Amino acid sequence: MQVGIESISFYTSQYYIDLKTLARQNGEDPNKYYIGIGQERMSVPPPDEDVVTLAANATSQALEGIDVNTLDTLLFATESGIDQSKAAGIYVHELVQLPRNMRVFELKQACYSGAGGLALALPYLLHHPDSRVLIVASDIARYGLGSIGEPTQGAGAVAFVLSTNPKIMTIDMESGLYTNDVMDFWRPNYTDEALVDGKYSIKMYSAALRESWQQYVNITGRSFTDLHRFVYHLPFTKMGDKAHQFLVRYAGADLSEAEWKKQIDDAAIYQRYIGNTYAGSVFLALASLLDNSAEDLTHKRVGLFSYGSGSVGEFFTGIIQPDYQKHLKVDLHKSIVTNRQELDYDTYKEFYSFKSNLPSDGSKAMTPRYETGRYRFAGLDEHKRLYEVVQ
Ligand code: CAA
Repeated sequence: MQVGIESISFYTSQYYIDLKTLARQNGEDPNKYYIGIGQERMSVPPPDEDVVTLAANATSQALEGIDVNTLDTLLFATESGIDQSKAAGIYVHELVQLPRNMRVFELKQACYSGAGGLALALPYLLHHPDSRVLIVASDIARYGLGSIGEPTQGAGAVAFVLSTNPKIMTIDMESGLYTNDVMDFWRPNYTDEALVDGKYSIKMYSAALRESWQQYVNITGRSFTDLHRFVYHLPFTKMGDKAHQFLVRYAGADLSEAEWKKQIDDAAIYQRYIGNTYAGSVFLALASLLDNSAEDLTHKRVGLFSYGSGSVGEFFTGIIQPDYQKHLKVDLHKSIVTNRQELDYDTYKEFYSFKSNLPSDGSKAMTPRYETGRYRFAGLDEHKRLYEVVQ
């Protein structure tokens, strides 16, 4: 029996800042961001958008055409959760009206936990072949105004349904794993902004890639040439270039620049305009590859690498299924990325700072209304978050 992805969709905020605006503000050459880190735009959530509303929109899109009564599990993967106790997925469960007979809980390990959820769901589905598992990875990446991580922020959610009817991609059971206790990126409970040792984090990413790749090769007996395309966790698109060049060298593959770029470029298109989506990033990259590849990928094996600072890496693979194109949401995804409003620097700063103005004493505060999808974060009352469906 095969297990894998039956449906996949993503959502991001309806506002962005162009990185040349940020470069001007930070006194940097725009090409440092456009070329040096490979990012052109960055999604910015308005005050009435959070990881729940992003996730609810991605979820309702991913569930189109799926019988929700067959879902028995919702795993919510995030670095930027909204409560230390209650899973953000429970709000999503209510907003999109999922069945009561389900388990819902939250997963955390920086940008890795979505891939971890997927790995655990695969054998579960083999034992429950009539069930479906929904994974939603949703994050708002925040490093702080003027910080070195600022141009690598972003926001978005990816939702995907796993089942024994994997119309888009089967996932191979074997993967390569790596865990190492390092402090390259972390966020203590008392801060909303990630702390990062940028250059070190790039080294740790590469070390995790090398080690998890090596274990994948040892376990499966497959080699670099068995994989047709590569999909990386993309904190910024240049990281994918660095990672793949590293892997090409490590695996001893003899490829021209044009050849190795072809293996990764389609997967980086959405990320260039959305920015880092942490737990969702590797799945946003997968959606980008599926939606943007001019080549028919049917029967091709694709390699995926998930990295969560701190750190955990996993290298896994899957095979693209016949007629997968019929099950993609290409037009919707492209319109989500294209139809957004550009912010000037002051409005970006106002949106960014809104979170710290929310009361923490239980008093009531309603959020101003901006453009959102179907769901919005309406405010806080008695320490409770309020959500509403936009009519
Ligand atoms: N034109 C073209 N390129 C230029 C340029 C210009 N005018 N000016 C600079 N550059 C190039 C630099 O040469 C450099 O390229 P290389 O990396 O290939 O050498 C690139 O632009 C970036 O320049 P710097 O290294 O000087 O940039 P920085 O010190 O400002 O830091 C960063 C960049 C480390 C990515 C920083 O933005 C950061 O810390 N980001 C957050 C951490 C992160 O994303 N880490 C990734 C691995 S960890 C992970 O993946 C988990 C996660 O999601 C967080």
